[in-house]
Amino acid sequence: MNFVDTHCHLTDEQFSEDLIEVIERAKNSGVGRIINFGGTLKDSQETVELAEKFSELYAGVGIHPEEVQDFDSETCDKLAELAKNPKIVAIGEIGLDYHWEKSAEGRELQKKVFIAQLDLARQLNLPVCVHDREAHGDTLQILKTEAKGLRGVLHCFSGSLEIAKEIWKLGWFTGVDGPLTFKNSAKLPDIVKAAPSEMLLIETDAPYLAPVPNRGKRNEPAFVVNVAEKIAEIRGETLEKVSEYTTANAENLYSLERKEI
Ligand code: NI
Repeated sequence: MNFVDTHCHLTDEQFSEDLIEVIERAKNSGVGRIINFGGTLKDSQETVELAEKFSELYAGVGIHPEEVQDFDSETCDKLAELAKNPKIVAIGEIGLDYHWEKSAEGRELQKKVFIAQLDLARQLNLPVCVHDREAHGDTLQILKTEAKGLRGVLHCFSGSLEIAKEIWKLGWFTGVDGPLTFKNSAKLPDIVKAAPSEMLLIETDAPYLAPVPNRGKRNEPAFVVNVAEKIAEIRGETLEKVSEYTTANAENLYSLERKEI
């Protein structure tokens, strides 16, 4: 079976000692392709370097909503320059995070930077990976009004079933991570159950959010298989089937070259 970890952060210092082993373990678990996302300019630069070094890695470049303070047109130009690399398959992760940002001005800035990067994705003809934490209403509103013609995913989806349905209606994907395997996974199982199979992506968000049975430990791309297993259990499907459609979805959204399953 062949899986794609469609979202992680291998530039995190938690991988500085054993990245080669981490990628090797992923491959041995069937996770032959990994999409690594940047959150700052420096981080985006590093994701490009890693993607050049490892054939298994692809990357997205972008400015995370918690890192928007110094964003200007020069930032956009630098991201565009990085995105010329053929291993860059997306703009991300970008979006809104209201968990840490409580001020109205701070949230306005996040929206402005989010919209500027949606425009960049449109210019570069790239899909988008969106971070939405406690900002579901504004995120949906911006996708409806500012993301015309764009394709993308709400990564680590944490909204309601109603929001998920709106996202699917727009033709956007929902990304499912480790929290699906947690005892307190709340509404996620219902969302996974209701999802059209062509709208689901699997991801780890490593090094964060390790799925059961590794909850609380450092997460890594190999563990995306635990997320796929939980999806299979909830939807009453075989793991093979989940592998087939989630991999096809990843290839479709990110224009990855097809690989034999
Ligand atoms: Ni992330």
